Parts: sequence; structure tokens; C-alpha cells
Amino acid sequence: MKPGTLYGVGVGPGDPELITLKAMRVLNQVEVIFAAASSKNEYSLALENAKSHMLNGAVVVKLSFPMTREQEALERAWEENAHRILEFVQKGKDAAFITIGDPLTYSTFGYMMQTIQEMAPEVPVHVIPGVTSYQAATAAAHEIVAAQEETFCVISGSKGGEQLKEMINKVDCVVMLKVYRHLDNILDTLEDLGIQVRVTLVSRCGMEDQVICNNPQELRGKKVPYLSLMIVKKDKRQ
Ligand SMILES: C[S@@+](CC[C@H](N)C(=O)[O-])C[C@H]1O[C@@H](n2cnc3c(N)ncnc32)[C@H](O)[C@@H]1O
Repeated sequence: MKPGTLYGVGVGPGDPELITLKAMRVLNQVEVIFAAASSKNEYSLALENAKSHMLNGAVVVKLSFPMTREQEALERAWEENAHRILEFVQKGKDAAFITIGDPLTYSTFGYMMQTIQEMAPEVPVHVIPGVTSYQAATAAAHEIVAAQEETFCVISGSKGGEQLKEMINKVDCVVMLKVYRHLDNILDTLEDLGIQVRVTLVSRCGMEDQVICNNPQELRGKKVPYLSLMIVKKDKRQ
């Protein structure tokens, strides 16, 4: 039997209007929609973002992924979940795997795509890009990512501020995702940079409770939401 197509669909960073026409079309065309959920609470942010656009009654299947960095546990979850997706796709059904923001920017879908392509190279995989969280956040904060010859990069803060220290010496703007866990360490790094920067922390961008903070040092010792990122821009206006 001819397999169905698997679509990796970016559903945008949180504002339901920041979803592409193509993503909306695919969500209403597939028979099954897979959404990653934390193994702790089954909650899927991507599903929350996308549900107002899912009007055609596709079957929704939540796939559980552990919140761990342990490689073996992760690989086991990718393989188990790839099998669950293939159960449908190999019966000829088209399916979508939805992710917040863009599917290939710090997203579980990247691993799922690679695992499925290794396990079943005959299955067509199409990726529908999404508006990323950092695009939405720089827009909300009115911060210019790059102009003229400027450079920028996007990094992860999941291990703290070390990478920020390295990269801000190389580029004009660093956007750091996943800042929620080691915020104080990142704030320490910012204090020691020795160069003038503008720092903005954006939480839950595009949602009703969005927060834009232009002085993140005031958040020291506090908890920020998982959906938080930091924009660090070299300040040349002095
Ligand atoms: C696993 S990554 C997902 C990135 C996503 N694929 C993208 O394209 O932006 C999760 C991180 O993205 C950032 N993020 C996603 N949505 C966000 C939002 N609405 N507001 C602020 N940060 C967000 C946060 O830094 C969060 O910790």
C-alpha cells in the first residue's frame, strides 16, 4: 500500500493568528494530528495554539516525550512515537505532527523526522515552516534583529549563560530560547559582559498574559514561564 504523507507543521508561537495558510490547510486535510505532550501532564502547547484552526474532526493523538536530557530515554521515546505515527501513515493515512513555532527550530519534530526517515525511508515527509518564537518576540518588543551588515544568532539557554558570553562577542544580536531554568545564571553572565547591551525578556509572547520586561535583572530569584526568551542586542546608540 502507498503510505500517507507525514507533515511536520509549525503552528506559530502562541498568537492563533500567527499560523500560516498552508499550516491551516494541512491541519484540515490530514486524518490524524499528533501533538507532543510532556510525559508529566499530557498538556500540549502546540495543540492549544492550533485547536481553533482544526475544524475538520481529525483524530488527535498525544505523544508523550520525557522532559529529560538522558539520551537513551529520549531515543526510546523517539522510536516508540515513530512507531505510533507509522502505524497510521503506513496504512495510507496522511498525518500531521504539530509543533510550536517552527518545526525545525529547537523542536522534537527534528528528531522525529530523522527517526522516521531512518525507519521508513519510503514515507514522504513534508515540513511546513512556522513563525518562530523569536520572530514574534522581537516584533512585540520592537527590537531590530539585524540591519545592514549586522549578524545575529539564536541559542539555547538550557545550560545557562556560557554560550551567551561566547556569542555576544561575535554577533550583534543574540536571541536565547529556554531561559526559564537557569535565569539567574544568565543574569549573572549579562552583568559580567563588559559591553553595552539592551536586554529584553519576553514571556508567553502573543498570548493574553504576554509580558515584555526591559530590565530582566528585576526578575532575579523569580520563576519565569517555560515560554520565555531573551533578546540581547549590542547597544550602539550610546
Ligand atoms: C522547545 S523550544 C521551541 C521553539 C519553537 N520551535 C520556535 O520555533 O520558536 C521552546 C522555547 O521556545 C521559546 N518560546 C516558544 N514560544 C514562545 C512564546 N510564545 N513566548 C516566548 N517564548 C517562546 C521559549 O524560549 C521556550 O522555552
